[in-house]
Amino acid sequence: MKLGIVILAAGQGTRMKSRLPKVLHPLAGKPLLAHVIDTASVLQPDRMVVVYGHGGEQVRDALDRPGLQWVEQAEQLGTGHAVQQAVPALQDVDRVLILYGDVPLMRAESLKALLNNSGSGFGLMTVDLDDPTGYGRILRDERGRVQGIVEQKDAEPWQLEIGEINTGIMLVDARSLENWLERLTPKNAQGEYYLTDIVSLAVAEGMEIQVTQPGDPVEAEGVNSRSQLAALERVYQRWQANALMDRGVTLRDPARFDLRGNLTTGMDVSLDVNVLLEGEVVLGDNVSIGANTVLRNVRVADNVLIRENCVIEDAIIGPDSAIGPFSRIRPGTELVGGAHVGNFVEIKNSSIGLGSKVNHLTYIGDTSMGAGVNIGAGTITCNYDGAFKHRTVIEDNAFIGSNAALVAPVTVGEDATIGAGSVIARDAPAAELTVARSKQVTIRGWKRPKKGA
Ligand code: UD1
Ligand code: CA
Repeated sequence: MKLGIVILAAGQGTRMKSRLPKVLHPLAGKPLLAHVIDTASVLQPDRMVVVYGHGGEQVRDALDRPGLQWVEQAEQLGTGHAVQQAVPALQDVDRVLILYGDVPLMRAESLKALLNNSGSGFGLMTVDLDDPTGYGRILRDERGRVQGIVEQKDAEPWQLEIGEINTGIMLVDARSLENWLERLTPKNAQGEYYLTDIVSLAVAEGMEIQVTQPGDPVEAEGVNSRSQLAALERVYQRWQANALMDRGVTLRDPARFDLRGNLTTGMDVSLDVNVLLEGEVVLGDNVSIGANTVLRNVRVADNVLIRENCVIEDAIIGPDSAIGPFSRIRPGTELVGGAHVGNFVEIKNSSIGLGSKVNHLTYIGDTSMGAGVNIGAGTITCNYDGAFKHRTVIEDNAFIGSNAALVAPVTVGEDATIGAGSVIARDAPAAELTVARSKQVTIRGWKRPKKGA
């Protein structure tokens, strides 16, 4: 049987009070709608259709991908009307699963349960809530069979007492769906074409509604406001934290850890509080990350210590390296291995050879550094002449004295030593001491000025 999935995403999201369409607001760094699309993809549907709103091209541009179809619902006339827009794109499927672009936590396992429970019949996802206010209520007969759904605004007082609510997620036979949608009318409190009305139409045809509940009721929660978004972010982060701990990662406080992307970990990884990982992050065995450190698209090899308050982006950190506290490693940087990068050091687009040390107050940019190099405190590679960037080459075992300025393009040869305070604008030869600073003089008998003299 061919499966089609429709994702409704045409709503305005006015309560977000944002220029950004609601479904593009990020949860764990990824747009809400992308969460739904990714989960839906796990079910390997034969077709997937997103219904987007008028002016929602921004959504389409942000999230388009092969195999995804986009259908515009120019006017939001209700959920039934929204699904109807997708019908022409679903001519060759047998079953249709309806999902929502602003319900990001629904898990593939729960949807699989819905598919399995429903067979070729009518499947409905419901949850029981202590406070069902605002939701459509599930109406059952005396034998517990679902008879229909009544919206909050249309409900009788006794119906408002019902705690079982409609999540909106349903699985229906494609041909029946098409037929029922044509029969919907907007005769209700909101003057909308309610998708929920197809339930009573199915019952009238003698169909039985198969109800499935998600593993966790929070999976059914939608995002309508910034505070709901923040609440779901915390839930999602907690799920990720739990999964990481199950995999053997130490989180010093799972409530103070955020992952906005994908994390791959080796054995005995330990993350202190307020670690933020973004994009694709890979951590090898025995990697320890200190408090308040941010890693964005970083690969870290085994036995690496990253201390507190570091920001590392688009970089590769080789094994046995030690970084921080307060180091900033920018895009295009690779520490080959065994390197030490210390406090108030910025490194950009550079490779740092095996065992080299850049420990204090330094800027290294556009530099190829060999192995065993020692960079003195306060060293600056002057890589920018105001118009162009130039490279600095520092060969193996060079020793750069403190507060040197290496004016690129320039090469410091193997085993070379640079005197402290030097401005090196021409290549420094291998294995020699090069000093470029004015000679120290002593003015004999010079007197310091004194007040009142
Ligand atoms: C709907 C259900 C209600 C259910 C609730 C769950 C109907 C009539 N009611 O109510 O039973 O408890 O969801 O959250 O279906 N949308 C469109 N086009 C439209 C209208 C809505 O794409 O014309 C999309 C919205 O973007 C949203 C979803 O459909 O993602 C639900 O719309 P919303 O207006 O929030 O539905 P509710 O009134 O909350
Ligand atoms: Ca509504």
